[in-house]
Amino acid sequence: MLTLTDEQIKAFHRDGFLALDAITDAEEVAALRETYDRIFASRAVREAGDQLDLVSHDEDDEAAANIAQPLPQVLNPSKYAPELAQTRMRANAERIARQLLGEEAVFRFDHAIRKPPHHGAATPWHQDEAYNAPDMDYHEISIWVPLQEATRANGCMQFIPGSHRWEVAAHQPIGGDPKVVGLEVTDARDYDARAVVCELPAGGATIHHCRTMHYTGPNRTDQPRRAYIMGFGAPPTPRAAPRDFEWLRRQQTAWQERQAKRT
Ligand code: NI
Repeated sequence: MLTLTDEQIKAFHRDGFLALDAITDAEEVAALRETYDRIFASRAVREAGDQLDLVSHDEDDEAAANIAQPLPQVLNPSKYAPELAQTRMRANAERIARQLLGEEAVFRFDHAIRKPPHHGAATPWHQDEAYNAPDMDYHEISIWVPLQEATRANGCMQFIPGSHRWEVAAHQPIGGDPKVVGLEVTDARDYDARAVVCELPAGGATIHHCRTMHYTGPNRTDQPRRAYIMGFGAPPTPRAAPRDFEWLRRQQTAWQERQAKRT
């Protein structure tokens, strides 16, 4: 069982992120890759509304989903592969979450982002909390696990140290296009120059706070970049100071329309 050192815990609270060389072993990574590819290929996942693209309009249901899409995402993969919850990776992630957030921390959701070879898009700079309800404060982390080596060339994680202490910056749908699901910060300033680039071996992990500013580059390699992400959190608390995430009100995506028809 993996235990963070005091040094690592201190580094997380100082920087808002942490990189680990291993959260699981090679054997489990091989099994996870099979599960991962099966879920992305599944029509059932798409039909249930849990498969969408983060940067395109994603309107064409007939297209072979994850081949035509530049940044395909699956929501709640463990709903389709319950074995994901029985892994060494998950047990280690839960322990890490409790060490960083306290004993109240529980698993909240998982998702998976696949960058196709050659044309996989960048995930622009953003804070995850920009996707959440604006009337609560969140005490959450994401644990991001690459199922192959993660490098600058295929889109490893990059972070701005200390940004977890910022408020949520102004965001917009990527490219300012309200039909796009993914969000980006409107002013990325000198972030590229200040970023800490976290290259990792397969089965390593980065851990980041929901306010930590982060980015992944496009996939310029000839292999897909598979990342599996687990979210953990202590219960959110009502916010004293109100805020408006107007970018969420502005969004009108084909995915939301499909979701509305399902309910
Ligand atoms: Ni993110």
